Amino acid sequence: MEALYENIFRRKSTRNFNMDALDEASLLRVSDILHRAPNLFEGLDVHFHIIRDGSGFSEKATGIIGAYTKVKAPHFIVVTANTQSGFRQAVGYSIAHVILAMNDLGIATCITYPGVDKSVIEKHAQLEEEQEPVLFIAFGNPENPLELYPKADYYKRRPLKDIIIQGPVKRKYKFILEAVRLAPSSFNTQPWRFSVDGNRIHLMRVKLGFIKSKFFTSLNKIDMGIALAYMIIAMKSKGMKFKLVKQSIPHTDMEYMITIEIQE
Ligand SMILES: Cc1cc2nc3c(=O)[nH]c(=O)nc-3n(C[C@H](O)[C@H](O)[C@H](O)COP(=O)(O)O)c2cc1C
Repeated sequence: MEALYENIFRRKSTRNFNMDALDEASLLRVSDILHRAPNLFEGLDVHFHIIRDGSGFSEKATGIIGAYTKVKAPHFIVVTANTQSGFRQAVGYSIAHVILAMNDLGIATCITYPGVDKSVIEKHAQLEEEQEPVLFIAFGNPENPLELYPKADYYKRRPLKDIIIQGPVKRKYKFILEAVRLAPSSFNTQPWRFSVDGNRIHLMRVKLGFIKSKFFTSLNKIDMGIALAYMIIAMKSKGMKFKLVKQSIPHTDMEYMITIEIQE
């Protein structure tokens, strides 16, 4: 967890890839990371399929919302799940571990939204029954090796005071929120908010207006899974003990997700 935590502060998305394939040893290491990726919920496993020939695939498989999704990369991972309740959060949780572990190996990544039919994906990856594609992770070497890691002023993120909707936050817990603040999110929307009550951190998602709702809400649920993973990675790296508990916390502008109860 120590290595994953450290990588929170030196990961960024790469959109310009060198189209040369990675060597076999690196692809094997990626495969190993995918096998070891943790799942958020028992009985809701997130699956991964590596597409080795990324150049042919990226032409067909990206582009539904304009240039944003158009990432060309030497390889892709197709992330799939059974679409039962909570699957988007589960996907976010697993991929957060994957991208940080890949970053630790010096492999560049970009999460992208799959703007194509399942039938196109199935020409390149054999999906198991009832598994639906949720996301892609483009990966490889960056075109410019210096762009693998973020520069000091890279992260455009909301300050803590904007994402903590209720406090105060004890000083010893601040690092958890500092870590999650840097998490990647779709369109960098950073939909997470925190209501902190002593040793309990309630994780909330900003509710979107009706027009924006359907598509962006789906993506934001993935973002929330990533946020939870970042918090857990931060706490585990410091050996903190905690429980995830579901409470009932109604809020007019926020959707309550889960509470992290830290053992003091
Ligand atoms: C669920 C999700 C979907 C994303 N989809 C795309 C995408 O389709 N195209 C893209 O270029 N970046 C995509 N991103 C990357 C975000 O734009 C990026 O994480 C965010 O702008 C923060 O930048 P950083 O990752 O460099 O820290 C996605 C990220 C997430 C979490």
